[in-house]
Amino acid sequence: MTVHFIGAGPGAADLLTLRGRDLIASCPVCLYAGSLVPEAMLEHCPPGASIINTAPMSLDEIVAEIRAAHEAGQDVARLHSGDLSVWSALGEQLRRLRALGIPYAITPGVPSFAAAAATLGQELTLPGVAQSVVLTRTPGRASAMPVGETLANFARTGATLAIHLSIHNLTRVVEDLTPFYGADCPVAIVWRASWPDERVLRGTLATIEAKLEPAMNRTALILVGPALAAEDFTESSLYAIGYDRRFRPQSADSPFAGTGPDGEGEAP
Ligand SMILES: C[S@@+](CC[C@H](N)C(=O)[O-])C[C@H]1O[C@@H](n2cnc3c(N)ncnc32)[C@H](O)[C@@H]1O
Repeated sequence: MTVHFIGAGPGAADLLTLRGRDLIASCPVCLYAGSLVPEAMLEHCPPGASIINTAPMSLDEIVAEIRAAHEAGQDVARLHSGDLSVWSALGEQLRRLRALGIPYAITPGVPSFAAAAATLGQELTLPGVAQSVVLTRTPGRASAMPVGETLANFARTGATLAIHLSIHNLTRVVEDLTPFYGADCPVAIVWRASWPDERVLRGTLATIEAKLEPAMNRTALILVGPALAAEDFTESSLYAIGYDRRFRPQSADSPFAGTGPDGEGEAP
């Protein structure tokens, strides 16, 4: 028996990995985080599966369901939105399972920041503009931020910020970031990225608040940084004519000549 934690993606029914789909289909028990996991994912469950929405449950109750499945020898598909590596409550569930000796495996999913970037039609790291993406949030009722993980500290780097769980805090986000990025810094809000009703708002730190609509009060990402509007960035070396690399040695004297395409491409 194994508990399969599966990233169910950002919303679109077809943004699920093949592995995730096949695992859901193989598990007689499915626990899903109903606040964000799309119902369409449940169509992959086998006939007769026990399907439980964990949105109204406590951690103790969720673990009790997993324990019961374990005792019955039934595999469990445990679905969370996006990817499991960020804001999924995975850590506390794994800790409980380790203590109980219940086996588990993790299948990644498409994270919401990647879906939002796809909706925007943009790369978040552009040469010479931004080479880092910070996945962060602002404090919420249930989660304080560790000392040091402030928007101001991240803003000092000039990186592209992907701010989760914070659309209700937009005023504070704008206040905290404006001294570092400037009022003209581009901002994009992607609401319900990849869902059929997704919406995009674009503006600057000076203008974005006035554009927000009351209905966009959850399931939105705030992306901030110069990479969101840059057009005058340099091209990466990777595909530049004359750039010597393993997959494209430029001469017989190249250290890469004859090595064959057996390694990773050089970083751009
Ligand atoms: C509990 S976190 C889950 C994050 C998820 N594990 C991931 O990989 O993106 C929920 C937050 O993620 C963001 N989010 C999740 N799905 C989204 C979507 N489809 N569009 C925009 N933001 C989304 C929002 O900021 C939301 O408040």
